[in-house]
Amino acid sequence: MDADAQKRASGEAAASLVKSGMVVGLGTGSTAAWFVRALAARKLDIVGVPTSQATADLASGLGIRLGELGDTRTIDLTVDGADEIGPGLSLIKGGGGALLREKLVWEASKACVVIADAAKQVEMLGKFALPIEVTAFGHKTVQARICDVLDEFDLGVAPSLRRRDGLPVRTDGGNLIYDAACGRIEEPAALAAALKSVTGVVDHGLFLDLADRALIGTANGIVELEP
Ligand code: 5RP
Repeated sequence: MDADAQKRASGEAAASLVKSGMVVGLGTGSTAAWFVRALAARKLDIVGVPTSQATADLASGLGIRLGELGDTRTIDLTVDGADEIGPGLSLIKGGGGALLREKLVWEASKACVVIADAAKQVEMLGKFALPIEVTAFGHKTVQARICDVLDEFDLGVAPSLRRRDGLPVRTDGGNLIYDAACGRIEEPAALAAALKSVTGVVDHGLFLDLADRALIGTANGIVELEP
């Protein structure tokens, strides 16, 4: 089974967890897209809360009724992909640039299920460059302060501004993203707190203590993990 088939299998497994009447957080990325397709095929009476414009477009095109975060008090279940799944279901997310909306939706959810192909599981977070979303105003100053934080953690890397076709990538919220190739993140909780304390950092891709379950597609079928 190749990576895409594993992503598809995990998305389909997660879609079977959804029941009619639920408010469902819809993640972003290629794995989450498999979930959205499988969910739409079930034709349940649900409301989807998308974590990006791309997911909103996909879901509404497939006939899923959409709501906005805040329309309802809580989201019953959110299903989303990840760039890395580490110990205790600690995650790096944001490879698709939707980390802020994703985190807002995850934090409003009663339960969060992460779906992924087998290559996403790691022994320690950090090989995938950590996305950090920052305000466009003053972003070079913010970058310098992020460098100071990374130095404090002996992660002496200069985060690079994410670009596409030579131009800085803007998130759905109009912000910029710096990617920090940390290598090994030995203290994710402390790093998360330190990054969040920098003025101008809107959020970062460390998702800690948020995932309740992982459904990972592997060559031998779905492997289920809990924190
Ligand atoms: C988007 C994300 C994605 O969930 C993450 O990048 C994984 O993407 P894919 O399922 O395409 O491998 O965090 O911001």
